Amino acid sequence: MARNGKIGVGIIGAGNIATHHLPGYLQSAESAEVVAIAEVHPESAHSFAQTVGNVEIFADYRDMVASPDIDAVDICLPHHLHKDAVIAAAAAGKHILCEKPLCLTLDEADAVTQAVAASGVTLMCAHNQLFLPSVAAARDLIRQGNLGKVYAARTTDVFALKGTAETFGWRARRATSGGGELIDTGYHPNYLLLHLVDSVPVKVTAMLSRHRLSFLEGEDTAHVLIEFADGTVGSIVTGWAYEPAACTERFSVAGEDGSLWSDGRGLFFKPRGGEQVVVQEAGPSAPDTYALEVVDFIACLRDGRRPLNTEVEGVNVLKMILAAYASAESGQVTELKNL
Ligand SMILES: NC(=O)c1ccc[n+]([C@@H]2O[C@H](COP(=O)([O-])OP(=O)(O)OC[C@H]3O[C@@H](n4cnc5c(N)ncnc54)[C@H](O)[C@@H]3O)[C@@H](O)[C@H]2O)c1
Repeated sequence: MARNGKIGVGIIGAGNIATHHLPGYLQSAESAEVVAIAEVHPESAHSFAQTVGNVEIFADYRDMVASPDIDAVDICLPHHLHKDAVIAAAAAGKHILCEKPLCLTLDEADAVTQAVAASGVTLMCAHNQLFLPSVAAARDLIRQGNLGKVYAARTTDVFALKGTAETFGWRARRATSGGGELIDTGYHPNYLLLHLVDSVPVKVTAMLSRHRLSFLEGEDTAHVLIEFADGTVGSIVTGWAYEPAACTERFSVAGEDGSLWSDGRGLFFKPRGGEQVVVQEAGPSAPDTYALEVVDFIACLRDGRRPLNTEVEGVNVLKMILAAYASAESGQVTELKNL
């Protein structure tokens, strides 16, 4: 334990997302405290440390994970660095919150899985959209049978992103991002689909486009179709190229007895042949899913509870994405068992 018997947290990578994680630690102040930051750029480290206050700065996260003040790390690094950081933290016996994607290849997934199993630490994947209140309510409606047999599920995450190769930095290159939009923002609709559908994905087909962000090595938009073992067909639309039509849902699920949909705020259910009902009103402002995710991570450590998504789900999401890339490359349907 770090200071005052609290869970001592060290953040690795003081960039954009790390600042969004901070409110969650402030909300968990009774149980946890950010005590260190590891960052390769001294200026970023100092500016982040000023924001947090009273934190130790490390240039190398390997030194940070060796500190007895650290109980858990929060990995906020570019994608190609996730695997090594997870393994270093696990080997040092530190619990882990890891930004998406968990890692980039199946070999890396094996190494991460083995490292976490060998150490017995808790790893939570930072799948923040699972903390949209409408997601938990939709999952309950589906699991309780309100839709009957589920036939189709759709998840989306589409917006127009501005930038250049310079401003995108590591995100624009395959070697550091792992692909394009699909393994970045596209990770969200993939884990969301897996969380909502109560079955196992078996086949994936995908079409990738570079509509507008021509400086990207990978795609700026992806359309993915997934066949699940129970016959449910999942579809994902995700991209950085354009503003989606106003009617585009965040997720929708349709079955024998009814359908539900959400714009990410409210949740709506329509029984077959009946009137649409509001299951959940949209709140006055969008929920801060980053804060909710961090609060849950700390609660899992404090209470010894399994996170909603561990490395197990993280690897399953990665497999869907790698299958989508394989399908786009080959022009064929990819069977997940052949990955
Ligand atoms: N959940 C979300 O909605 C969401 C949004 C944005 C980013 N992310 C994820 O967060 C992660 C980071 O993205 P970002 O936008 O914050 O990137 P970023 O480039 O803004 O920040 C990354 C930071 O890591 C630092 N860094 C690089 N190598 C390092 C090393 N070896 N040791 C210590 N620090 C190092 C960089 O200097 C930089 O400050 C990615 O996995 C990304 O996909 C998630």
